[in-house]
Amino acid sequence: MLSLAVRTGVDLVRVDEFKLSRERAGDAFDRRLFTPEELEGADDLRLAGAFAAKEAAFKALGLPKGQWHSVQVVREPTGRPALRFSDGFDSSHVLSCDVSISHTGDYVVAVVTALVRT
Ligand SMILES: CC(C)(COP(=O)(O)OP(=O)(O)OC[C@H]1O[C@@H](n2cnc3c(N)ncnc32)[C@H](O)[C@@H]1OP(=O)(O)O)[C@@H](O)C(=O)NCCC(=O)NCCS
Repeated sequence: MLSLAVRTGVDLVRVDEFKLSRERAGDAFDRRLFTPEELEGADDLRLAGAFAAKEAAFKALGLPKGQWHSVQVVREPTGRPALRFSDGFDSSHVLSCDVSISHTGDYVVAVVTALVRT
């Protein structure tokens, strides 16, 4: 029998701490966490949102933390964020996935909801 479940993940990031980590670790930090597409034209706030979205995705999908390139945050033409999985990541259990990001300047929050096959 097909067994489905809705899974949710949320992550809250302090923008100043994220910015400091970027400044301290430099390009290596950026390259470890983000794809070239995510980095292109993105400022600290945009990247803090993408970071939160990845962490939220790890929670929703039950992935070990640190698979930074498995989940990429992309943008629709309207500005709406979406998640894209890398070719090497087996996402066959994920039937549908959605992400939402909000920020105040001090904090950024991301929520990921996924419909998964259990
Ligand atoms: C999109 C919108 C909801 C953002 O709300 P806000 O309170 O100003 O700002 P928030 O910090 O809560 O949200 C900003 C984040 O919303 C997300 N976002 C942007 N456009 C979005 C959209 N169309 N749908 C869903 N999420 C959107 C982005 O992730 C953005 O942050 P980022 O670009 O740094 O990643 C607001 O601009 C709005 O109401 N727009 C009109 C509705 C709309 O969908 N317009 C697009 C139609 S073409």
